[in-house]
Amino acid sequence: MTSSAVASESFLPAMSAIAREAGALLLQYFQQKLKIEYKGEADLVTAADRASEALIRQRVSTQFPSHDVLGEEQGLKDRGSEYRWYVDPLDGTTNFAHGYPVFCVSLALEHRSTSACRIAAVVYDPTRNELFSAEQGRGACLNGQPIRVSKITQLKESLLATGFPSHKRHQNPNIYFYHQITLRTHGVRRAGSAALDLCNVACGRFDGFWEFNLNPWDTAAGVLIIEEAGGRVTRFDGSPFEIDSRETLASNGLVHQALVGEFLTIFNGRGLEPLPDPREYAERRRAKL
Ligand code: IPD
Ligand code: CA
Ligand code: CA
Repeated sequence: MTSSAVASESFLPAMSAIAREAGALLLQYFQQKLKIEYKGEADLVTAADRASEALIRQRVSTQFPSHDVLGEEQGLKDRGSEYRWYVDPLDGTTNFAHGYPVFCVSLALEHRSTSACRIAAVVYDPTRNELFSAEQGRGACLNGQPIRVSKITQLKESLLATGFPSHKRHQNPNIYFYHQITLRTHGVRRAGSAALDLCNVACGRFDGFWEFNLNPWDTAAGVLIIEEAGGRVTRFDGSPFEIDSRETLASNGLVHQALVGEFLTIFNGRGLEPLPDPREYAERRRAKL
C-alpha cells in the first residue's frame, strides 16, 4: 500500500458528506428563479455557485484547517499545505440557471510531496442522488458500488460526449471535431457538465469524452474516477494528461488509440467529411415547395 493510499483513507467519508451537503444546497436554490450574472460573454454565475463554494470552504477549513483550496469562484487559498482541494461548487451552471437538471458538485484532493497526485475524488449529482467516488489505487464507486468503464472496442459502436467552453467560444474549433466524430460513432452528447461527462465514462454510460480548455476544477475529480474505473485520460495526442493540460481526452481505454488517431486526422485536415452547405439545402427545399 502506498503512503498516499494511507493518507487518503480518512478523507473520502468527509469529502462525500461535504459534496452531499453542497448538493442539497444547490437543490434548494434550483427550486427558485435565480438572477444570472455574467463572468464573460456566455460565462454564467449565480448565487448558488457562490453559496456552494462558501459552504465547501467553511467545511474544509473546519475539518482540515491546514489544507489549501483552489475553487472556481474564490481562487486559491494557499496555506503552504501538502494537500490541495480542487473545488467546482457547481459544474453545469448554464444548465442550472435554465432549470435543466444536469449539474453536480466536484471535489478532488491532491497530495503534493515529490510530485502532485490526486488521491481522492467525489462528484455528486443531487438531481439523481448519484455520488461517484474514487481513491487512488482503490477503485471507483457509484453510491458505494464498484464501477468499471465500458467494454466497447469499436469507435463506430461507441457513444461519446463533449463540451463547448463558454469562455472565448468563437476561438474554439470543437464544432469540427463534433461533426466528424458524430459521423464516425453512435453519436456525441453535449450535456453541459464536464465532471458528470467524465463520471459517465467511468461507469460505462459513455465510451469516451473530450473537451478543449477545461480548468483543473472541472477535471481533477472526474479524471481520477475514470482512471480508477479502468479507463484512460490523455491529451489529444495521447501524451500524459496533466491537471493544467487544457486538453482532455478520456475513454474506456479500448477505443483510446482510435480516438487519438481521429484527432490526428482531423487536426491534419485529412479525410474530413464536408459540412453540408445550408444554402444548398435551402435551395433544394425551395425547389420542392
Ligand atoms: C462548464 C461545464 C461545461 C463545459 C464548460 C465548463 P461550469 O463548467 O463543465 O460542461 O463545457 O467548459 O466551463 O462553468 O458550469 O462550472
Ligand atoms: Ca465546471
Ligand atoms: Ca462551476
